[in-house]
Amino acid sequence: METLYEGAYAKVNLTLDVLGKRPDGYHDLKSVMQTISLRDDITLEVNTGKPWVLTCDKENIPCDHRNLAWKAAEVYLKATNQNVDGLGIHIAKRIPSQAGLGGGSADAAAVLRALNRYFDSPLSIAALAEVGASVGSDVPFCVIGGTAMAEGRGERLRRLPNMPDCVFVVCKPDFPVSTPELYHKLDETAIPQRPDNAAMESAILAGDLEKIADNMYNVFDPVVTQDHLELNYIKSICNSYASLGQQMSGSGSAVFAIVKEFEYAAVICNMLRENYPQIFIAKPVYY
Ligand code: C5P
Repeated sequence: METLYEGAYAKVNLTLDVLGKRPDGYHDLKSVMQTISLRDDITLEVNTGKPWVLTCDKENIPCDHRNLAWKAAEVYLKATNQNVDGLGIHIAKRIPSQAGLGGGSADAAAVLRALNRYFDSPLSIAALAEVGASVGSDVPFCVIGGTAMAEGRGERLRRLPNMPDCVFVVCKPDFPVSTPELYHKLDETAIPQRPDNAAMESAILAGDLEKIADNMYNVFDPVVTQDHLELNYIKSICNSYASLGQQMSGSGSAVFAIVKEFEYAAVICNMLRENYPQIFIAKPVYY
């Protein structure tokens, strides 16, 4: 038996635009995504000689084939024609679920990267991302990580230069959001404002953190905020304590803020922690 360790990093959407519904029921989107240091830790035991097992230190996470990490292992072995004699997947969870932070996708991507390393990299990173697309829409980005423009369902990726160093505050309020329901809701509403992805890309190319923050926009944010006004409270606290920009990530319900210095992030955390215990400080991450 061999034990593998891999970090599974959360993502935030600096921009998120939903362009339209596709014949397959999914939506075409365009989003600038960034991996952050908030992470789960994945331990894989390969060739245990026992039936597959998945454990997680948090409740309410499916511990069988429904878990994206389990699916990722199945899909990887099939794609590469490999076999293992028993597999143990253990997830130490920190990334909140139903948060828009890509937690399940991050775990799946970590399994793909770890297995590919174990088998001496038969798949390139691009091929590994392609395999990940069948597991979930955010998995290809989580395989690649860093700063990237995602299009299509999320599987068409273009790497962007690293964003400038900064600090993220991530705050997960206590209500969950169903991603399919939210896409459905968006289908029924006119989208009044959209992100300027070209401006975001220029800001990243220029390494201009203020412009990056100015150009953050997520079309899901107003749709969720109208039903959950506490998101405005979280954003206003961030804004009062030197955040350059703040918005919901993905389909929510987590909100993130970008600040320049750790000290400001610590103040925002102190202000919000009593009402929102699921609050984290993170940095951009590249791997
Ligand atoms: O691919 P994933 O399982 O992450 O997607 C969850 C759900 O979100 C899908 O079943 C679909 O309803 C919706 N979705 C979508 N278009 C995308 C990504 C997700 O409609 N690009």
